[in-house]
Amino acid sequence: MAYAEEDRNSYEVYQETADWLRARTVQRPKTAIICGTGLGGLADLLDNKIVFPYEDIPHFPRSTVVGHAGRLVFGDLNGQPCVCMQGRFHYYEGHSVSTVTFPIRVFFILGVEILIVTNAAGGLNPHFQVGDIMLIRDHISTFGLGGQNPLRGPNDERFGVRFPSMSDAYEQDLLGLAMESAQELGFLNFIREGVYCLVAGPCYETIAESRMLQALGADAVGMSTVPEVIVARHCGLRVLGISLITNKVVMSYNSQEKASHEEVLRASVVRAEDLQKLVTHLLGKLGESTKAL
Ligand code: HPA
Repeated sequence: MAYAEEDRNSYEVYQETADWLRARTVQRPKTAIICGTGLGGLADLLDNKIVFPYEDIPHFPRSTVVGHAGRLVFGDLNGQPCVCMQGRFHYYEGHSVSTVTFPIRVFFILGVEILIVTNAAGGLNPHFQVGDIMLIRDHISTFGLGGQNPLRGPNDERFGVRFPSMSDAYEQDLLGLAMESAQELGFLNFIREGVYCLVAGPCYETIAESRMLQALGADAVGMSTVPEVIVARHCGLRVLGISLITNKVVMSYNSQEKASHEEVLRASVVRAEDLQKLVTHLLGKLGESTKAL
């Protein structure tokens, strides 16, 4: 898709959205959580909830996917002020990469410091099982490398620098805290670490494509997350990424298996509760670590 000027928003547009939200809630979240496919239940766990359907929020995109509710939920999770996206935006819905990442800059203006991003992903690593939770160590963006980057176009220094580094996209300390949380919860037998690869979707990968992604060093593949992480890092947010492995990617022409959205939704239900526990526990630890400062 050609670069379209009208796809890009000025700082003032993000600010208008942030001001609108600020005028309607006294909550000042420090952590934003993006709930991936089938993982929206996390937002229901918040205490003192204030809910904004996306269609009510000025300039906010609309979510069109089954399994994604389309609401911004403010509240406290394990005592920590959070804002949850119950439903995210995907490139395959027809949104530009800049629209997909719209909420991130609103969060930044609202004072959010940490982004926890979750997703459903297909397992490429042969050691991964359906139901594993993969903490994202790094990413490969197939279409980012090809030019579909949300930071393309004029740079606004109020958000960040022209050429941000991505070698530190997923923060080591947050990953460590997530691992500690997994250990304390007795989850270590299904916690993995790995590289998430973004593909545009909406179709799943061919066998040849899956083999290529595996050979490139990807452990899991999915259709989201990377644009939001790039924009979050650009404006200095600390990022933790978590993938729920909902299917094993088909790698052999002899296999009768094939990926489907129903399979992804089914698998996410099975482990959704554990993932919620992990994030909730982690939030408690984050609270403790900021108190100690
Ligand atoms: N491929 C791409 N995206 C996905 C998959 C997959 O196998 N599973 C869940 N999201």
